[in-house]
Amino acid sequence: MRASVLREIGGPFSVEQIDLAPVPSGSIRVRLAASGVCRSDLSVVRGVIPQAFPTVLGHEGAGVVVEVGDAVTAVTAGDHVILSCVAPCRVCAACLRGEIELCEHGMDHAFGPAYATSASGGEVYAAFGLGTFAEETVVPASAAVVIDREFPLDLASLIGCGVVTGVGAVLRSARVAPGETVAVIGCGGVGLSAVQGARVAGAARIIAVDTVASKLDRAVKAGATDVVDAGASEPIDAVRALTAGAGVDHAVEVVGLSATILQAYGMARRGGTVTIVGAGSFDDMVSISAMQLMADAKTVRGCVYGATDPARDFPVLLDLARRGAIDLEQLVTQRIDLDELDEAFTAMDAGSVARSLVVFE
Ligand code: APR
Ligand code: ZN
Repeated sequence: MRASVLREIGGPFSVEQIDLAPVPSGSIRVRLAASGVCRSDLSVVRGVIPQAFPTVLGHEGAGVVVEVGDAVTAVTAGDHVILSCVAPCRVCAACLRGEIELCEHGMDHAFGPAYATSASGGEVYAAFGLGTFAEETVVPASAAVVIDREFPLDLASLIGCGVVTGVGAVLRSARVAPGETVAVIGCGGVGLSAVQGARVAGAARIIAVDTVASKLDRAVKAGATDVVDAGASEPIDAVRALTAGAGVDHAVEVVGLSATILQAYGMARRGGTVTIVGAGSFDDMVSISAMQLMADAKTVRGCVYGATDPARDFPVLLDLARRGAIDLEQLVTQRIDLDELDEAFTAMDAGSVARSLVVFE
């Protein structure tokens, strides 16, 4: 089967024929319909997220189950599935607390053994344990959520990372209530999903912040009531000016930089929430004074995978999409072939696309 293989940090991608290993017990083989291109993939290309090489990237996919391994009961061949980055065990302490996204074994598959061999016989690893930039993949059954066969699989793929992360951050982590005010910093695929989530929550003001004008236009289409061009004005002052000096009830950071995390902190009102969705680097430190942390009484909270349970929340997101409350098509800037990934990553880095969607025949 065709796969886009990344042989080393920095790339490039090359489309190759690789052979999948036999499906292990507890796992399934999926024929992918589509895969979104997410900034976390770029973090692997850059070496910020550790990964064994050579690897097949991609972690936002949906497709059809073609084979199930021993001991798989929840999924059968022919099922349509969205792949989940978290494969919850459902028995660890975190799962039992209901914090499925923090499952102690939820990412084990991402660090598993090679899942395929290349034409030259070398081992190939699936990034994030999913490797969706390929016609097929093998994943734990617990990383697949069965969905309605009527729903278009290409759009469903977006739910597996960007949409669940962005919408989840607003609905499940910040828990935005009707009439509240929200600022979203960073309007890529994840941030635009957060804006849509804020609209679903009934937020009265949704302020979108980005440095790229076209992203702000997209944010307005997604439901933003106000926009701030962070390249043209000081974003904290601009957001405070829009909220009578008070700041917003909820600030959501969707870039992954200490500078924008500090901006989110500065935009939130006293007692408000600051939700960190962006995945930054380990050595980028955030400095907030001890006095401020106490006196501002803000809740600063990291948010993994939208603080969601994929089995519970993917169907909810599909229902919202089905009745038009969230618009998945709006997130797609371009549909591409597997051999166009280099260009798609360059475009994402330049900020000129929301989501590129790799579509398989
Ligand atoms: N201020 C405001 N916006 C910024 C800034 C900044 N200083 N720097 C970058 N941006 C904007 C970009 O213009 C772009 O619109 O942030 C957006 C990031 O979007 P994408 O590159 O499409 O990334 P996305 O896939 O949405 O992921 C965003 O969430 O899950 C994490 O790892 C992911 O850290 C990443 C973040
Ligand atoms: Zn992602």
